[in-house]
Amino acid sequence: MSWEKLKGKFIVLDGPDGSGKSTQIEKLADLVREKGVEPVVLRDPGGTTIGEEIRQILLNPAHEKMSVRCETLLYMASRAQLYSQCIEPALQKGSCVLCDRWISSTYAYQAVAGEDGKEFILELAEAALLRTWPDRTIIIDVPTEISRGRLGESLDRMEAKSGSFHQKVRNGFLELAKGRDDFRVIDGTGPIEEIHEQVIEALGDYVNS
Ligand code: TMP
Repeated sequence: MSWEKLKGKFIVLDGPDGSGKSTQIEKLADLVREKGVEPVVLRDPGGTTIGEEIRQILLNPAHEKMSVRCETLLYMASRAQLYSQCIEPALQKGSCVLCDRWISSTYAYQAVAGEDGKEFILELAEAALLRTWPDRTIIIDVPTEISRGRLGESLDRMEAKSGSFHQKVRNGFLELAKGRDDFRVIDGTGPIEEIHEQVIEALGDYVNS
């Protein structure tokens, strides 16, 4: 099995809070490194000094008055910085970029659950970002009652939103993935190793030939 095709590829793991993406990104990074490809692991929002500051503003539970439009623009601003400062240079060097969340999250949280307008958000992403879509987006799907049960006691501003908001977030991810051949949806309810196997399978054409 050759992993060379992952060089210069931009791979995103996304899904609801509590879907286990961060654990899976770390496991995938270890494997990719073992196979001789340099992984660059990033998170959105964040990953740069500017982005981490924007992240603090976004997730601070004290900012209860933040409008959805403000959220959308801040998430997009952090992402614009992340792409130009980290992602594009890493891809040009031939690294494999593994990013925790991307525009799929803005679609699920702000466009679908927050009702900020699906077309608006997709058009904004096209205008604001040097590149909108990763080579592959893997959505880790988990029923809302399970993903909510995995969260700790101290919730950030987004995690603290209602169960029905998070149900809409899940539906948003599934809706976006439908009919797109750059997306894969995997089942995030099983043991960590089983989900890891599904992540590898979801990279299919990049690691199989
Ligand atoms: P994280 O804890 O998985 O890093 O994500 C931070 C929170 O921000 C999480 O609740 C999902 C939310 N989020 C959005 O609402 N819109 C976005 O575009 C992104 C990237 C994250």
